[in-house]
Amino acid sequence: MTGDAPPPASRPVPPPASRPVPPPAPPLASGPHGADALRPLLGTVLDALADGGRARGGPLPAGGPEAVAARIADVLGDALPDDGDPGALRALVHALAEGSTDPADPLCAAHLHCPPLAVATAADLAASALNPSLDSWDQAPAASALEAAVTRALAHTAGLADALVTTGGTESNQLALLLARETHGAGVRMVCGAQAHHSLPRAAWLLGLPEPVVVPTPSGVLDPAALDEALTALSGPLLVAATAGSTDAGLIDPLPEIAGLCAAHGARLHIDAAYGGGLLFSDRHRDKLAGLEAAHTVTLDLHKLGWQPVAAGLLAVARPAELAALQQRADYLNADDDTEAGFPDLLGRSLRTSRRPDILKIAVTLKTLGRGGLGDLVDQVCARAREFAALIDEHPGFELYDRPVISTVLFRPAGADDDAVAAVRRRLLHEGRAVVGRARLDGRLWLKATLLNPHTRPDALAQLLKLVEEGTPA
Ligand SMILES: Cc1ncc(COP(=O)(O)O)c(C=O)c1O
Repeated sequence: MTGDAPPPASRPVPPPASRPVPPPAPPLASGPHGADALRPLLGTVLDALADGGRARGGPLPAGGPEAVAARIADVLGDALPDDGDPGALRALVHALAEGSTDPADPLCAAHLHCPPLAVATAADLAASALNPSLDSWDQAPAASALEAAVTRALAHTAGLADALVTTGGTESNQLALLLARETHGAGVRMVCGAQAHHSLPRAAWLLGLPEPVVVPTPSGVLDPAALDEALTALSGPLLVAATAGSTDAGLIDPLPEIAGLCAAHGARLHIDAAYGGGLLFSDRHRDKLAGLEAAHTVTLDLHKLGWQPVAAGLLAVARPAELAALQQRADYLNADDDTEAGFPDLLGRSLRTSRRPDILKIAVTLKTLGRGGLGDLVDQVCARAREFAALIDEHPGFELYDRPVISTVLFRPAGADDDAVAAVRRRLLHEGRAVVGRARLDGRLWLKATLLNPHTRPDALAQLLKLVEEGTPA
């Protein structure tokens, strides 16, 4: 200190400037006024959904990617304007609805992209409003209890002990491989069919596992003899990844035989039932999944054959003790003394931290429809697929790949080459008339219809066929 420095002069405080009063903070979705704030906004959303859907007038917007991007750019304008626009909700929901592919349109039948049930979507609104986050009990007291009960019930339906909620088949497959690695060591090698979903080899790459052994599947499913040969030739810890409901054709690997081979060779078994898992609800089709209960882990995904909005994945596990590999301590979320005092430790139920209560819409759906109601939906889409296949089979202008096992039908215009098959699909997309998928099997390109809409009537399927016939280049 310099000793003789003058004391700091006290500066006069200027009178408050006439600053504009900030506008009131926008209303919140929960709390005492949440429902009142949401009600008129929901009216806006529902009107915009209806108007936007009418403006589209078909299963997808016409004009292709450039036209859709231009319309969105036009409505959006400046994405982060200096001043807000209270009309944004109506304008953007309308634009989204007008520019969406609508899985509830019977002419939208390409992917495992289901039309969500209204009741599930309504439940999802409650999840968004309350915003429970499943990384600690104090953020999700009821949601965590609901999740524990419903995941166990679903796992038991599949013949396993417990299940984790995931964002879908991809995360479930990754978790399955992670549990295999943590249980059997980083040398565990995956053996899968060539038709296995791409997320499986990708998970092996992500987790630093050895290069997977891919068994050719010329018939579309894992052949037990070929699998036996592969397992016999390999040494070290092995993980067989079978598929119940292949992405391209909806085919189910021979699960009991594969389970027997895994037992004989001491290999671990994962079954990717992201698509086929929904058959568990159906008395008529459940038997197709015999052998599922022999797996160490099973991927389920109710945003496919379960009519949920994305995301609604699960990984069922036979040995819950293996989940210890996911244990994690973070004092702010699961302090030891809190856990000892009886607060559930949720961090070990996922690799994510903040996590939506996707279980709510699933629980509401299971309770509202019951197994019987869900089974009826499964039966209906499988029946529609059989009818569609019969229609194609009878039609001289089309070739059918095979009778459907679940609800996927592969077909192609007779005599068309692969370029013509690809072209008709793109043409229908560009014109906004139909959404069909594509799959390469038997070395040829096929059109793919994945029927997940229980409201689809046979005349819509006949119309789909007519559109393909008319749109195929000569
Ligand atoms: C058999 C199979 N497994 C996994 C997945 C991945 O599921 P998700 O898209 O929910 O991650 C799919 C997606 O279609 C699938 O068909």
